[in-house]
Amino acid sequence: MTDPEFKTIIEPFRIKSVEPIRFTTRVEREALLEAAGYNLFLLHAADVLIDLLTDSGTGAMSSEQWAGMMRGDESYAGSPSFYRFEEAVRGITGLRHVLPTHQGRAAERILCSVALSKGDVVVSNTLFDTTRANVESAGAIGLDLPIPEGREPATLHPFKGNIDLEALERALRGGKVRLVILTVTNNSGGGQPVSMENLREASRLSRAHGVPFFIDCCRYAENAYFIKLRERGYEDKTPLEIAREMFSHADGATMSAKKDGMANIGGFLAMNDEALAEKARNLLILTEGFPTYGGLAGYDLEALAVGLREALHEPYLQYRLRSVEYLGERLTEAGIPIVQPPGGHAVYLDARAFLPHVPASEYPAWALSLVLYLVGGIRSVEIGSVMFGRQPDGSEKPAAMELVRLAFPRRTYTQSHLDYVAEVLQHVAGIKERIRGVRMVQAPEVLRHFTARFVPAHGALF
Ligand code: F0G
Repeated sequence: MTDPEFKTIIEPFRIKSVEPIRFTTRVEREALLEAAGYNLFLLHAADVLIDLLTDSGTGAMSSEQWAGMMRGDESYAGSPSFYRFEEAVRGITGLRHVLPTHQGRAAERILCSVALSKGDVVVSNTLFDTTRANVESAGAIGLDLPIPEGREPATLHPFKGNIDLEALERALRGGKVRLVILTVTNNSGGGQPVSMENLREASRLSRAHGVPFFIDCCRYAENAYFIKLRERGYEDKTPLEIAREMFSHADGATMSAKKDGMANIGGFLAMNDEALAEKARNLLILTEGFPTYGGLAGYDLEALAVGLREALHEPYLQYRLRSVEYLGERLTEAGIPIVQPPGGHAVYLDARAFLPHVPASEYPAWALSLVLYLVGGIRSVEIGSVMFGRQPDGSEKPAAMELVRLAFPRRTYTQSHLDYVAEVLQHVAGIKERIRGVRMVQAPEVLRHFTARFVPAHGALF
């Protein structure tokens, strides 16, 4: 980190390889949007100028990771790359059984298949969409119990990702809970961190009721750094020490290593329970691959072994959290409502507050994300009623929040890219009264946001 006498937090890397980005005109983007059925997932990425769709698998790898990839050993069974990966995961989580998977949802699917039965309940601060879909596909019911502040975009709280412990205890007393999964940081709730105190207590309650306590640890490093910055007693601990303490309370973890694994693909399922691990391993072999590669190449395992540790470097985490906070500050200065305080991997625009004239039935957050593309070539993602509005029985209910997420790929964009994003948003704030909603014209039954098609509800977006 820079000396304390200098206050500028710099990108703690220099650039070795660059990738050009393509500029398009407003007229071109209008046609591209229409052809994509007004769904940003259906655009060609080459037509996007700044891609903030996700921080998942979209980051830049380090020279050490690329060097590791050259060392990748592609043996079908017992590859040394697997053992380096396993050692990295164990070194951070302390969990005994480590199963590599091709990404997070594969770990979720395996866990849900082996641990859940019809009618079981899974409790979380907030299940991510793929996790919820996997819980429901196993016939179980997902119950999100964030603290009330976690559902209030404007309310300031240092750990808005916390689970409501009283509600958790009530649910546990009901006797149907088979699994508790704490998502750190809470992605769907604004990338908000969970405190160590909350995590420890949630674990204690779950274990007291004989229910396994798992962590969805995609962004464990960012969460660890928030604990260092905001929770008393952790100021002098390293992110690794904090991460180890977080995992010491867990019976298992699922991870999409496309986030804090700093790699383009990969994930894992880890746990202590021998019998459950055995079942999971058998399913892994059936659907993903032999347990020492789990659907990944040996070189992916090497990139992960290095990346999982790099994510815990303090100068990186300081820069990472500060970049998100910086964009959040610029937008707040411009009067644009965002989830406060900004999360670890993304800024979330509060579309309900920004576009109060667009009803939930016309998907205000979806419409806003389309406008950002049309005006500035920026791709974001809706986390609102398109993603969460459809109920398991097929009915429709507005989501708790209508958010647009601007997710930051790791080590990819610089401060001037963020200044551009802020300028585009200021422009959009100037025309917000004119922005109109959309109508969904086609949608699949599950995970509909990926492929649904829309039209502007009133002829044009603005
Ligand atoms: N859990 C969380 C908290 C996530 O954010 C994600 C993915 C997953 C599980 C699933 O992992 O994609 O590797 O299968 N989130 C991405 C995102 C897609 O954009 O936030 P996966």
